[in-house]
Parts: sequence; C-alpha cells; structure tokens
Amino acid sequence: MAKIAVLGYGVVGSGVVEVIHKNGRTIAGKTRADLEVKYILTRRDYPGDPFEELIVKDFSVIENDPEITIVAECIGGCGAALEYVRRALKSGKSVVTSNKELIAEHGCELLSLAKERNLNLLFEASVGGGIPILRPLNQCLAANELTEVYGILNGTTNYILTKMIRHGLPFDEVLKDAQQKGYAEADPTADIEGFDACRKICILAALSFGKHVYPRQVKTVGITQITAEDIAFASAAGMRVKLLGRAMLNEEGKLIIYVAPHLMDEENQLANVEDVFNAIIVKGDAIGDVMFYGKGAGKLPTASAVVADVIDASKHAESRKYIHWVDGNDDYVADADAYPMRWFVRAAMTEDEARAKFGKITVIPHQTEGQIGFITEPVSRYGINAASEGCEVLSVISVLD
Ligand code: HSE
Repeated sequence: MAKIAVLGYGVVGSGVVEVIHKNGRTIAGKTRADLEVKYILTRRDYPGDPFEELIVKDFSVIENDPEITIVAECIGGCGAALEYVRRALKSGKSVVTSNKELIAEHGCELLSLAKERNLNLLFEASVGGGIPILRPLNQCLAANELTEVYGILNGTTNYILTKMIRHGLPFDEVLKDAQQKGYAEADPTADIEGFDACRKICILAALSFGKHVYPRQVKTVGITQITAEDIAFASAAGMRVKLLGRAMLNEEGKLIIYVAPHLMDEENQLANVEDVFNAIIVKGDAIGDVMFYGKGAGKLPTASAVVADVIDASKHAESRKYIHWVDGNDDYVADADAYPMRWFVRAAMTEDEARAKFGKITVIPHQTEGQIGFITEPVSRYGINAASEGCEVLSVISVLD
C-alpha cells in the first residue's frame, strides 16, 4: 500500500483525491498499485467534506511521517509549492506535480535533487492536462532524434480565439463572456499574455532536447492584440489564428523557441483544434509527425494525469524512472526574431505602397476601409520591422508553413 499526501485541495487536488477514492479498486486491479491518501494539506477548513479527517495544515506532519512515500503537489506557483517539494524530496519522498511554473522555473534543480536521492519527480499533468504527452516524449519516442515540438498549449486562449473566429467578435467581449462562463480566470493574464503556454513549451523543449530553458529566455506574445479585423482577413485567406508554443533546433544545435499567435491554413490539423482543446505535434526522425490531442485543463482530466504519475511512482519506488535534463545557458537559445518566416501584415496603405515596402507579397482579397492585408515571403522579424518603418502597420502575425 502506497500512502500519499496531497498538497492543495483546490480544483486539481480535490480531483486527485476524488479519482483515487473512486477508482482505487480499478487502479489496484489493473496496475497492482494500491493507493491510499493519508493526508490533504490545505490552509482552509472544509467542514462536512467527506475527506475532512485527512486534512492537515502543517507540512512537517507529512515530512516527518515515514509512511508517506509519495507527495502529490497541487498547490501551484513557486512559493509554498517550491518549498514543500524541496523538503519532500530531501526527506526521501517521491513527488508528483501538475505545476508547470515550478517545473519550468526549477525543473533542473528539482530533478537533480530527485536523482541524488534516487527518487521520482513526475509531472505529466503540467503540460496538456489530461493528454499523455511527457511520458510518450520521454519513453515511447525515445528512439527518435527529435527536431521540433509545437502546438496549442493553452485551452483558455484557444476557447477565446475559437469564439472570435466563429462569431466575428472582438477580443474584449469574448474574454468577458469566457470569464462569466468560468472558462477564463478572473485574472486571465497568464493565459492571454502567453505565459502559461510559455511555461509548457519550456518543459516540452527540455524533455525533447535535454536542456533546461527558462521562461525568461522565451520570446512570448499573447493574443491580446488580435482583432476581429485580423480574424476577418485570415478567414478571407482560408486561414485561422491559433496561439502556438514552438521549439526547434537550428543547424547550429541552438534552440529556436517562442510563443506567438499564428495564421495557419484551415486545412492544417491544428486549425481544427477548437474550444478548450489542446494539441501538440512532435517531429522525430523515425516517427515523422505525431500529434497528441485532448483536454488540456479541467479538474478530472488533470487529476487523471496526476494519478497516473502517482501509480508510476508507486510502481517505481525502488527503481527510479530516468527523467533528466541538464541546465541550459543563454547561449543555447537562439534569437527567435532572426528566424525567417512568412508574416501576415495588416496596414493602412495601398497595394503599391505595400509592394514597395515589403517586396513580394500575396494580397488577401478582403475589403476594409483604408486597409490592406497581405502575406509576406519568409523574412525575419527584424526585416518586417525595418520594412514597417514610417508606415501605419496595424498588425503583424506569424504564419505557420
Ligand atoms: N489555464 C490553463 C489553460 C490551464 O487554459 O490551458 C491548464 O494549464
């Protein structure tokens, strides 16, 4: 019997307790992992909660209980969560976490701590919620030389963009509606500014290419500047707008990594990933392209991934699973703005002026008073900035080829 402590009793933590309680027998039957939640760490009281007697408020109770072999961290952020994860590992307990910020910022340090003590640190739920992606990357695709990983990594922004595309509504209106319906948080900054997707692409890049990338190293653009006009031009070109996180190695072995909205052909697999769904594409030299699709957020999908890690940790109590990457450095990350790609440009200028400034362009057949929308040939962001000088450029959005 593996005795577990769940840290945090919010959406994810309560989902983890619920799944272990509800499916414990099935899990034991299928995997021989016999799991019992012994403690729930939370600052709040939950009078009348069915698991009320498991609640503790002091982490040292968990830290000093030798029966606890696995800690499931579901607090989030890098405050108490970081302290407790360090203390759990130092006191000989394996850790499972859904906390992308923790892994994106401190994964290298925490993996080393786990390795030194022959413990597991597993974090499947930190990327893609319930979608199995990290384990397949680390295990099933291990035979491949991976060259690129990219995808729709944030459900909230995908929901907002989907509604903007379907109903032609402006960003602010859709965001307000998403908040009222509970799809977007009261403070949506991490989602709409791309920070959440940034943390997830850092984790995917570290696992794919073996070196830690810190969020501060990643050029990150969210969706707040996307307008209904941009979407209308994209639709007229047979394209859709999606927020992508993208990481790939260039010829010098440096990492090109960024988060940004992209226009893509509506036939592209990612263009048809809608609402709160996430999808991640991995490119490997043996497998070619493989796509992972599913619900990237939510109580039970995320709990499903956390509990799968708890099962794995309990089955590998003696033989640590090999998940490791080394620290990167600033040299490892290339300047994403130097990467040549096609761009969608919306500007207040004539077609002749656009051709004179941007060279060969494909004009989008859509009329908006005094505006033109076009797609450039591949050029770096610096090239676009130089061409834009002295003109009234209203939008510049990457195009996915
Ligand atoms: N806020 C995140 C999203 C939750 O919208 O995808 C899952 O990480």
